[in-house]
Amino acid sequence: MNSLVIRRPDDWHVHLRDGPMLAHVLDFTARQFARAIVMPNLDPPVVTTADAVAYRGRITARLRPGRDFAPLMTAYLTDGTDPADLTAGFERRIFTAAKLYPAHATTNSAKGVGDIRRIAPVLAAMERIGMPLLVHGEVTEPSVDIFDREAVFLDRVLAPVLRDFPGLKVVCEHITTEEAVGFVLAAGDRVAATITPHHLQFSRNAIFQGGIRPHFYCLPILKREKHRLALRKAATSGSPKFFLGTDTAPHAVHTKENACGCAGVFNAPVALEAYLTVFDEEGALDRFEAFASEHGARFHGLPLNEGTVRLVREPLAVPERCEGEGVSVVPYHAGTTLPWRMVAG
Ligand code: DOR
Ligand code: ZN
Repeated sequence: MNSLVIRRPDDWHVHLRDGPMLAHVLDFTARQFARAIVMPNLDPPVVTTADAVAYRGRITARLRPGRDFAPLMTAYLTDGTDPADLTAGFERRIFTAAKLYPAHATTNSAKGVGDIRRIAPVLAAMERIGMPLLVHGEVTEPSVDIFDREAVFLDRVLAPVLRDFPGLKVVCEHITTEEAVGFVLAAGDRVAATITPHHLQFSRNAIFQGGIRPHFYCLPILKREKHRLALRKAATSGSPKFFLGTDTAPHAVHTKENACGCAGVFNAPVALEAYLTVFDEEGALDRFEAFASEHGARFHGLPLNEGTVRLVREPLAVPERCEGEGVSVVPYHAGTTLPWRMVAG
């Protein structure tokens, strides 16, 4: 097969940032996807309904004329989140979901949740109204090895939450391990997961290939090869529990190529092409549309998109840098050539 037409896809996990970076990166996502779940980890974070209305306005104001793209907003949970405001924001369809960042787990997470037990009333409200909880699933204790933080989180934090809130809908974001795949599969229909292109394409060896490679540093960190293979199997299995979420996370080049570099892979410029390469290698082109355009919408109870995008088996040369708005970002697969290319809607 040399050409594939699929229903317009959605990206269920995107960092669009703010200010010049937002202006620079937005169209990379908007040209490929009809909708995207926009992560709230700005500084200061998007906590209230009013914050989300304002941020959504800044995003839509930056959209190119004619782009048909809907940002789906999320609330950043803190120890002080007000269940009444969260509920009102969801019922007014401002919020699509709420994001749990354990405090200090990743970029701009210092104001995240210190102890999940403190937000029990928030989780109870979300369970009652059917608002999905999106989870950055890593413990933050320095005593836990960075490669074990996801698996430990599932056991110590998420399993008790699922037990205590049996109706709560949960998306395990950017899963990276065999354990997470097993956990999600065992958990029943209300639990699903997003999977990034970089965790499908690279193991932790990539971070250390001939030197330290900061553009492969992200959180959760890339894992061993056996985990990558488990993720590929899950993503291409056809299970409705797994869907597309790029976790595209742009950082200016000087903040990545730094003695203390930021975490994140900027994959938006080549997101569909990277995922499709994986599905092609796995002999699962026929399952790509469901992963990219159906499973996430169904989980969230949203309509499927109208319209299509077309991808062709033609080389896509990825630039070394994406520059604009005074910002320079190194894209995923910089300087290499991918075998597929999105050509049109
Ligand atoms: O690598 C990451 N970058 N992981 C996250 O969880 C956050 C993201 C970011 O916002 O930069
Ligand atoms: Zn993220």
